[in-house]
Amino acid sequence: MQIIRIQKVIADTGFCSRRKAEELVLQRRVKVNGHPARIGQKIDPVRDLITIDGEKIIYNRKKQHVYLMMNKPRGYITSMSDDRGRRCVTQLLPQTDVRVFPIGRLDLNTEGLLLFTSDGNFANDMMHPSRAVTKTYRVTVRPDITDEQAVKLSEGVMIDGRKTAPAEVRVLDKQPNRVVMELVIREGRNRQVRKMCEAVGLEVARLKRTSVGPIKLGMLKPGTCRELKAEELKALRAAVKKPERK
Ligand code: URA
Repeated sequence: MQIIRIQKVIADTGFCSRRKAEELVLQRRVKVNGHPARIGQKIDPVRDLITIDGEKIIYNRKKQHVYLMMNKPRGYITSMSDDRGRRCVTQLLPQTDVRVFPIGRLDLNTEGLLLFTSDGNFANDMMHPSRAVTKTYRVTVRPDITDEQAVKLSEGVMIDGRKTAPAEVRVLDKQPNRVVMELVIREGRNRQVRKMCEAVGLEVARLKRTSVGPIKLGMLKPGTCRELKAEELKALRAAVKKPERK
C-alpha cells in the first residue's frame, strides 16, 4: 500500500501541475471515494477512487502499460483527434499518464466494445491477421433474413474483391420487419460486417460489438471505460498467443 497526498497523485497522472491540482481540490472538483478531497489529504491511489469533475483518473506510478475497454456509443469516430470537429472516442477516455490508443476501430455508427492500450506490441499482435482473434457482433437487420442469406454469410461473401473467411451466424430474435443476429468473424476488414450484409442484400439497422476474443462488453455503460481485470488480460493474451512453431 502506498499513501500519497492527493495533489501529488493528480500531478503524477500528468493531468496538471501540483499547484493546479490544489486549485481543483479547493474548487471541490476532486473527489476521493465520492467525497470532496482536502488539500494534503493522504490517499492510497491504487485503492481509492479519484475523480475530477466526475471523471475517474487512473494512477499508474510505475508507468506500466494500460489496457482499457470502452463501450463506444454511436456518433463517435475511432480517432485520436479530428480536424473536422467530429466527436472522437478519445474524449471518452479517463485521464492516464501514458498515452493509450484504440486496438482496431469501430465505425462512426457502430457501438460496443473497443479496446485501448499503451502497449504497441500487444496492439499489433491483436490486429495481426494470423492471430484471428474472434469479434462478435450483434447485428440488427431489416426486414428479415432468409436461410440462404445466413448460409452465404457463414460460408463467406465477396467484399472488395476478396472472399470473407467463414463466419458463425446465429439468429437471436425475429420480429416483424426486424431480425437480430449474432455474427462472429475472425478478420478485421474495413466496415466488414456492413459490407458482408450489403453483399447478401441485408440492410443493417444497428451494429454493436459485444466481444473480442474472451473479452465481453457485459453491462459497461455506453460512453464509459474501465481497466481490464488481470484475468481478462491473461485470457486475451492467451487468445492472441503466436501459434507454437514445431
Ligand atoms: N464491421 C463494420 O461494418 N463496422 C464496424 O465498426 C466493425 C465491423
